[in-house]
Amino acid sequence: MAQIKIGIIGGSGLDDPDILKNRIEKSVSTPYGEPSDVMILGEIGGVVCVLLARHGRKHDKMPGNVNYRANIWALKEEGCTHIIATNACGSLRETIPPGSLVIVDGFLDRTTKRQQTFYDGESGHPPGVCHMPMEPAFHPLMRQVILEAACGAKIKVLNGGCIVVIEGPRYSSKMESNMYRLLGGDLIGMTTVPEVVLAKEVGLLYAVIAMATDWDCWRDSGEKVSHDAVLKVFQENVKKILSLLQIIIPKMAQENWCEAIEEMQKLAKDSVVLPN
Ligand code: ADE
Repeated sequence: MAQIKIGIIGGSGLDDPDILKNRIEKSVSTPYGEPSDVMILGEIGGVVCVLLARHGRKHDKMPGNVNYRANIWALKEEGCTHIIATNACGSLRETIPPGSLVIVDGFLDRTTKRQQTFYDGESGHPPGVCHMPMEPAFHPLMRQVILEAACGAKIKVLNGGCIVVIEGPRYSSKMESNMYRLLGGDLIGMTTVPEVVLAKEVGLLYAVIAMATDWDCWRDSGEKVSHDAVLKVFQENVKKILSLLQIIIPKMAQENWCEAIEEMQKLAKDSVVLPN
C-alpha cells in the first residue's frame, strides 16, 4: 500500500485547523514565492494531512491574487500525494439549492489573469513546456472514494457538476450568469482554475468538494448573491463539510493508491516537452 499524505486546501471559512490532531505550523518559501499562509501539519483519523488556507487565515488574498503556484508547490514539496480542495460557490441550477455539497467533475475556465503553469521558462523553474491533458480534470478514483464515503455516512453529496471559474473578485452579471447556464455550468466559483491544473502538473491527485452557498443571480425571483448571503449559508453548512472530511480521509487511507499515484506522476512527466 502506498503511504498517502493529503493536502487540504481550505476555501473561504473551510480552513478550520481544529479538524487536525497533533498540529504543527510550518512556514515555507518556494521558487514561486510565498504560499497563502503557513501549512498546518497534523492528522485526521490517523492519516497525515496538511492544511493550507487558500485565501490566508486572515482571508486577505482575493481569488485573482492567491499564489496558486506557491500553494501547490509547497504541498507537493511537503510530500502530499493527494489534494482535497474545498470551495464555496454559487449554484447555476434549480437542482442544486444552497447548502448542497457537490463532487465536481468538470470545469469551464473563464479566468483571465492567472499563471496556469510551473513551466514558464523563468530561471529556477522547471525546464520545458507542459501540455497537460485536462480530461479527466478531477481524479476519478478520489471522486469515487469521496462519494462512497459520503453515502456510507448518509451525508448527501451530488455526484458531478461543472464549475465555471471566473476571475472575480466581482460576482457575475445576470447576462453572464445565464450565459454560463447555457454553456453547461452547474456551479460558479473563483478558484478551481488554476489550482486543478497546477496540481496535475506536479502529479498530485486532486478533487474538489464544492458547497453551493447562493443562487448567483440568474433567477428572476429570490435573492441575488452577496457576500453576506454567501457567509450566512456557509456558516450554516460548514459543519457538514468538516464532518465529511473526517469521514472521507480515513476511508481514503484504506484504498491502494500505488497505481493511481504512479499514473499521475507519469502523466505529469510525459506532458513536458523538453528543449532540444
Ligand atoms: N463564491 C460563492 N458564490 C459565488 C458566486 N455566485 N459566484 C462566484 N463565486 C462565488
